[in-house]
Amino acid sequence: MIASLPFLVGIAAAAVVNLESRQTAAQITTVDLSVNTGSPIRRASGVLYGVPDTKNQIPSSFYTGAQFTGATGWIFGGYTARFQDVLSNFQTARQFNAQFILKMSDLWGTDGTQGANGVYPGANGDFTEFDAYLAQLVADLKANGMTTNIKLLIWNEPNLTAFWNAPQAQYFAMWNHAVQFLRAHLPGVPIAGPALATAPNSADTWWTGFLSNVKSANTAPDVYTWHHEGSSKRREQRPPDKPACNVIDEYANVGEQNPSSAAWWIARFERFNMSGLRGNWLSGANLQDFLSGLLWKSGSTYFANGEWQVYNYYATSMTGFRVATTGSTDRLMDNFAVVGTNIVRILVGGRLVTGTYTLQIKNLSALGLATSGTINVTTRQFSFAGTEGQEGAPSNLGVVAHTYTGNVLSFPIFQTDTVTTWAFEFNF
Ligand SMILES: *[C@@H]1O[C@H](CO)[C@@H](O)[C@H](O)[C@H]1NC(C)=O
Ligand SMILES: *[C@@H]1O[C@H](CO)[C@@H](O)[C@H](O)[C@H]1NC(C)=O
Ligand SMILES: *[C@@H]1O[C@H](CO)[C@@H](O)[C@H](O)[C@H]1NC(C)=O
Ligand SMILES: *[C@@H]1O[C@H](CO)[C@@H](O)[C@H](O)[C@H]1NC(C)=O
Repeated sequence: MIASLPFLVGIAAAAVVNLESRQTAAQITTVDLSVNTGSPIRRASGVLYGVPDTKNQIPSSFYTGAQFTGATGWIFGGYTARFQDVLSNFQTARQFNAQFILKMSDLWGTDGTQGANGVYPGANGDFTEFDAYLAQLVADLKANGMTTNIKLLIWNEPNLTAFWNAPQAQYFAMWNHAVQFLRAHLPGVPIAGPALATAPNSADTWWTGFLSNVKSANTAPDVYTWHHEGSSKRREQRPPDKPACNVIDEYANVGEQNPSSAAWWIARFERFNMSGLRGNWLSGANLQDFLSGLLWKSGSTYFANGEWQVYNYYATSMTGFRVATTGSTDRLMDNFAVVGTNIVRILVGGRLVTGTYTLQIKNLSALGLATSGTINVTTRQFSFAGTEGQEGAPSNLGVVAHTYTGNVLSFPIFQTDTVTTWAFEFNF
């Protein structure tokens, strides 16, 4: 979904002091250092569009760790030019060893701007034009070496008339037709879908219809995707089969594009081993620029905003192995934690919440530390001055010595505004 961009202003005012507090589970987010959950995979570092068609327009230093999606026009006679845009974006993604998600419906021409001139494959059971498109696309993908590092997303948000203004049954028939064509002509290239505008829900006929259709036609996607941008709180439903390779291909509504919410989403994508592309709330030409709201520019010079600094820390500092975490039971505070070489890094994030929470770090002995003592914790603050506000590296708020007993270290997180967030680090 695309909307105009309201400006958010963050007020960064928080202090971390050596204060032991007692709180209910509703406000505790935990780390268990004894449970290794594997390598960080930067699953949340995807962007929807956000990449200019002009190569190197955004300096490469801003891309690290991201994934990209491509642009759109068969039905308007603009296929060739738009395929070149896709190819350019794919090459940018490959330069950074990122996975590329090709939105086939955009290249067909139904990217939401088609209006009443939209053409939807399979009307009256006729797939002639669609087959010509699929054959051209398959040939172009093969000719340009685009059969690895790519996922083919067949149709974006078919449950919205802005993207699919034809009967639901025609969508299911189109899906089956496309999957059978692609499996026959591009075996092994993963197919993604259904990219519905809603999370899986047993009361939603698009989901139930989709699942029963792919079951009976044997056309299940390799990667299930959907969008999660509503105002409702987090859900953990997922469709059956292949649970380890789901993609939320648009995440975070516009108000959640700030450092704290970004960290909250990162924590959850990492915990559930799911991948996500950030939603893009810019409009017009800006859609294909600014890495989906992580950058802005002054003249022609790009700069990073405070949220980019979170993704940069996530991609470049949070190395080593992941450890198990839990979010607060009110589901509004969470953390992502890694153990690197002699250092633990914990990125906390709240979902548009203020209040005092507790970070509880369990099983310190798993790192060879004593079960009681003192640990010097460094705090780094990620501030936010809005999407168009430049921010440098997180500020170092200094070291606080925390005493602990019982193999558990706890200290408070003072979430005094809804956008600022923190990373805590300690050596062992
Ligand atoms: C995510 O993957 C890790 C590593 O394979 C595993 O330990 C963990 O249980 C997985 N999490 C979920 C929720 O499946
Ligand atoms: C599709 O999903 C959107 C987003 O949740 C919802 O508002 C809309 O009602 C759905 N449309 C249909 C036709 O089910
Ligand atoms: C980790 O900590 C929890 C809670 O403090 C404890 O129940 C559990 O036994 C510990 N695990 C290990 C492997 O020590
Ligand atoms: C914590 O920092 C203090 C002050 O720099 C230092 O004296 C102390 O040895 C440190 N403690 C640990 C456990 O590293």
